[in-house]
Amino acid sequence: MILFSSRSVLLSVYYPQIFLILTSGSYLALSSVVALGANIICNKIPGLAPRQRAICQSRPDAIIVIGEGAQMGINECQYQFRYGRWNCSALGEKTVFGQELRVGSREAAFTYAITAAGVAHAVTAACSQGNLSNCGCDREKQGYYNQEEGWKWGGCSADIRYGIEFSRRFVDAREIKKNARRLMNLHNNEAGRKVLEERMKLECKCHGVSGSCTTKTCWTTLPKFREIGYILKEKYNAAVQVEVVRASRLRQPTFLKIKQIKSYQKPMETDLVYIEKSPNYCEEDASTGSVGTQGRLCNRTSPNADGCDMMCCGRGYNTHQYTKVWQCNCKFHWCCFVKCNTCSERTEVFTCK
Ligand SMILES: *[C@@H]1O[C@H](CO)[C@@H](O)[C@H](O)[C@H]1NC(C)=O
Ligand SMILES: *[C@@H]1O[C@H](CO)[C@@H](O)[C@H](O)[C@H]1NC(C)=O
Ligand SMILES: *[C@@H]1O[C@H](CO)[C@@H](O)[C@H](O)[C@H]1NC(C)=O
Repeated sequence: MILFSSRSVLLSVYYPQIFLILTSGSYLALSSVVALGANIICNKIPGLAPRQRAICQSRPDAIIVIGEGAQMGINECQYQFRYGRWNCSALGEKTVFGQELRVGSREAAFTYAITAAGVAHAVTAACSQGNLSNCGCDREKQGYYNQEEGWKWGGCSADIRYGIEFSRRFVDAREIKKNARRLMNLHNNEAGRKVLEERMKLECKCHGVSGSCTTKTCWTTLPKFREIGYILKEKYNAAVQVEVVRASRLRQPTFLKIKQIKSYQKPMETDLVYIEKSPNYCEEDASTGSVGTQGRLCNRTSPNADGCDMMCCGRGYNTHQYTKVWQCNCKFHWCCFVKCNTCSERTEVFTCK
């Protein structure tokens, strides 16, 4: 079987049952995904909404990219929250799309925004590299001349609109219940995509004798996903509490307004919004999806969220001592070997009780 090691993590997330069928140690290749049949695969991915399953069946090539995008979002979430009591842990353990945070908290807001942005980012990147049927470079931006600034579109502009539309169709399709949470989730999905769209970059290249720039061509490129992670983290810190307004005749939640403001003020498009206060994530609690902080590494001297005081919620911490050993003072000898000393240091780490 062909090995796609970079995809194996994703595939184990996506196709746990199939991984069980395969003998351990063998890997599942994209070609065998296709060979196994989109029908079987798509029916086995847990947690897909009906419309997502339909998209999976009609675009089996895209489902891999979607999964990679969602995984990229989860990885970024875990990076951004690595020092927090909540470390994105409830996410992505069973399936990329199956589980969600039960509480409509600002943490949930972040996960939705980063996942939706991740899918849009991955699909757009795959389009630019010719990895997906039905899309490619942004054709509207080809050959057009920008009179004012004196350059023309050239190269391969990332088709962010396609990626965003795809993310909208797929990620948003899981919101099937007509409740307040749906409005919150859809808003945050859109906020994540909007932040990505606003961060698209323009890259240019000069042509002409010795860089004289007689002509200049430009194209749009995707930002690094890390940048999106940092921006969404700031949006998380400034997240806005909202409540639903039931405006229609059927009294269904119709739109969101900022809470604690008398007039109807809607949140901004790129605001992250939440409807419920966050739990403190100190103790394990299945009803809120908190795994607690017992066993988490903490920093004894830090006054911040990663400090043992904050991280362990006053329960105290355990000290573990160990000896770190590494090669040091390496010298090159003629000819040709390297001789090193062994250095060691007593180190301590602290974990929450
Ligand atoms: C496109 O496909 C190639 C070959 O399978 C892979 O190496 C690359 O990472 C893919 N790019 C994207 C953005 O998915
Ligand atoms: C998050 O915290 C839990 C326990 O509190 C731990 O088991 C898990 O490894 C952590 N995850 C990451 C990505 O650090
Ligand atoms: C712990 O926190 C202190 C103060 O913020 C910092 O100087 C130190 O580098 C941190 N230690 C580790 C191991 O991260």
